[in-house]
Amino acid sequence: MKKEIGMEKIKEILRECGIVPVIRIESASDAVPLAKALMDGGLPAAEITFRTSAAADAIREMRRAVPELTVGAGTVLTADALDEAIDAGAQFGVSPGFRTEIACGAVRRGLPFVPGVMTPTEIEAAMAVGFDTLKFFPAEAAGGVKMLKALAAPYGGILFMPTGGITLGNAADYLALKNVFCCGGSFIATSEMIARGDFAAIREGARAVSDFMGKLRGKAPSHKG
Ligand code: 3PG
Repeated sequence: MKKEIGMEKIKEILRECGIVPVIRIESASDAVPLAKALMDGGLPAAEITFRTSAAADAIREMRRAVPELTVGAGTVLTADALDEAIDAGAQFGVSPGFRTEIACGAVRRGLPFVPGVMTPTEIEAAMAVGFDTLKFFPAEAAGGVKMLKALAAPYGGILFMPTGGITLGNAADYLALKNVFCCGGSFIATSEMIARGDFAAIREGARAVSDFMGKLRGKAPSHKG
């Protein structure tokens, strides 16, 4: 297993991904082919959401079988989910909203954490306890690129990971913002693709993102073949 890694390194890996796959997985038996499909497609990270009872086992399996993939826990809403995520070997955590006890509890236990915010008040609450890297959720519904541009002026030191409504059609506009370090999106590996066992589609989805990011950055993509 990979050694625990800190927030700066996590940020670097998520930035490299560009669009982080946000995944809902119903059965841990799909975890390893899913992780392999993402890596083969050139995406080095995934967020497994705690919206199903398979999340912790899926993280555990991915870490065991595909250690080169950086695996985070998403939708960490409760202390129990945080315990399970850490116990399963999650390397970072994400929540849709901001709760001090969860976000600070994660950091105290050595888990890099990206809490979610949507308003200036929530940003300031997160800043007050030391966070400068935040999820912006639900990005499109909460004002999207326009809102993030407006937030850049008063909150110059804050970096956002917009998630919610991100597609290959709008990601470039988000990623062009100085206060955005990556986006999150469920379109790369949808529940439907996973349920169908269509790992080829997931590999192609990951490849499309890594090609897109390569073009955006003007360099060759990192996927195999
Ligand atoms: C999330 O979990 O952060 C969002 O539900 C993902 O949003 P999307 O499905 O619009 O990508």
